[in-house]
Amino acid sequence: MFARKGAGDHGILMGTSTQKDVSCDAVPQHVAVIMDGNGRWARRRILPRQVGHRAGIKPIRQIVEQCMCRGVKFLTLFAFSSENWQRPREEIRRLMVLFVEALNSEVEELYEKGVQLSFIGETGLLNPALQELMKAAEIRTHNNSRMNLAVAVAYGGRADLVNAAKKVARQVSEGTLDPEQIDETHYASALEMARLPDVDLLIRTGGEQRISNFLLWNLAYTELYFSDVLWPDFGVDEMKKALDFYVGRQRRFGRTGEQIEGARC
Ligand code: IPE
Ligand code: IPE
Ligand code: MG
Repeated sequence: MFARKGAGDHGILMGTSTQKDVSCDAVPQHVAVIMDGNGRWARRRILPRQVGHRAGIKPIRQIVEQCMCRGVKFLTLFAFSSENWQRPREEIRRLMVLFVEALNSEVEELYEKGVQLSFIGETGLLNPALQELMKAAEIRTHNNSRMNLAVAVAYGGRADLVNAAKKVARQVSEGTLDPEQIDETHYASALEMARLPDVDLLIRTGGEQRISNFLLWNLAYTELYFSDVLWPDFGVDEMKKALDFYVGRQRRFGRTGEQIEGARC
């Protein structure tokens, strides 16, 4: 019924973990950003937190531009985490209003620029009007291919892993999948980021050095860049610094530095 993998396929010399070709590209193919620091930006100005969230829209435009300019093909932005539901109701309400406003004002321009927009996360938990706008934005930009912009809303890395496990378990229980066929590639195809390559560079602004339940699986071999700059102040120059940091990294994926040097093109 199922094509089973032979024992020999898992020989020690073959290696079974994720393998990646040595990349000689100076530009990360996929950049993900944890846009943090809006609240502190506002507090420093003795302003309400929502003013900081609103000020966080401008850098998004700049970062999208900069990524397109540098040839980044995939950009994923963390806009609202599953843990952010624990914030005060009024802050959440204002954030949702801001998302609606941002979609209304930005989607057409993104479309014109050739950006394909998509959303990841438990979006079914969002207000139906917002869900409709998201769907419409995805449909509107569906045929664009210059850059893929994924926005993570109500996203949690652990929930993503659990949901993927459920999908795979369902395939097994329905008899369409042999458990022996479950490998990293198959499992990854059940995740929210299934269609996207692994993240090459993660940027977190706002000074914290943590992942905060963002893309747990997809960050396995990502280069991490932490900036003290608060998100509303993160502009083109800061983005250039992050991309330049990436150029200086040697990505070894478990190999030795000498192996990487030898394979350079
Ligand atoms: C990030 O900024 C935006 C969201 C999480 C929605 P914060 O609101 O977390 O800003 P700080 O960390 O309080 O400064
Ligand atoms: C992470 O920021 C989520 C987003 C930027 C959307 P948080 O500010 O919520 O992270 P923690 O809770 O301080 O780690
Ligand atoms: Mg924060």
